[in-house]
Amino acid sequence: MTTAHARQTRFVVGRVEEIPPGERRIVEANGREIGVFNIGGRFYAMLNRCPHLGAPLCEGGVVNQVESTVPGDVRLDTGKTYLTCPYHNWEFDVEDGRSSWNPRLRARALPVALEGADEVQAALDRGELGRIPGPYTAEIVDVSVESDYIVLSLRPARGGAK
Ligand code: FES
Repeated sequence: MTTAHARQTRFVVGRVEEIPPGERRIVEANGREIGVFNIGGRFYAMLNRCPHLGAPLCEGGVVNQVESTVPGDVRLDTGKTYLTCPYHNWEFDVEDGRSSWNPRLRARALPVALEGADEVQAALDRGELGRIPGPYTAEIVDVSVESDYIVLSLRPARGGAK
């Protein structure tokens, strides 16, 4: 049962098609800024705060890992994707937030799920799902059946929603 004082831990970010591949949206949920990314059709979310010195991490670049065993032989590993901090270029794995510079340092990755309109509407009706406040609220008030929705959880996560 939800009380007036209960804080939501899951939020509707928007329709899947509102964040196309290669795009991101930075939203606010429970007073925290969170970046939601569509990387090659998979959705990821990360707290918009670098664990090094607090930079707005989600404003950084999205890059793949580059591997080289010998000079001149360079391969792009599209299976490993990193978010690059705009301050000092440290890279954080979008799957688990782990830093490739310092494996003991982690950015906060959050779970993202894709849910159907019926499921989202029912959870909204039960008060189990919050809406992201701000300029996008109007876009997500009407839940339509022909769309899937991006649902963000503030609990720790691994992996991205596909
Ligand atoms: S603040 Fe992000 S790497 Fe330094």
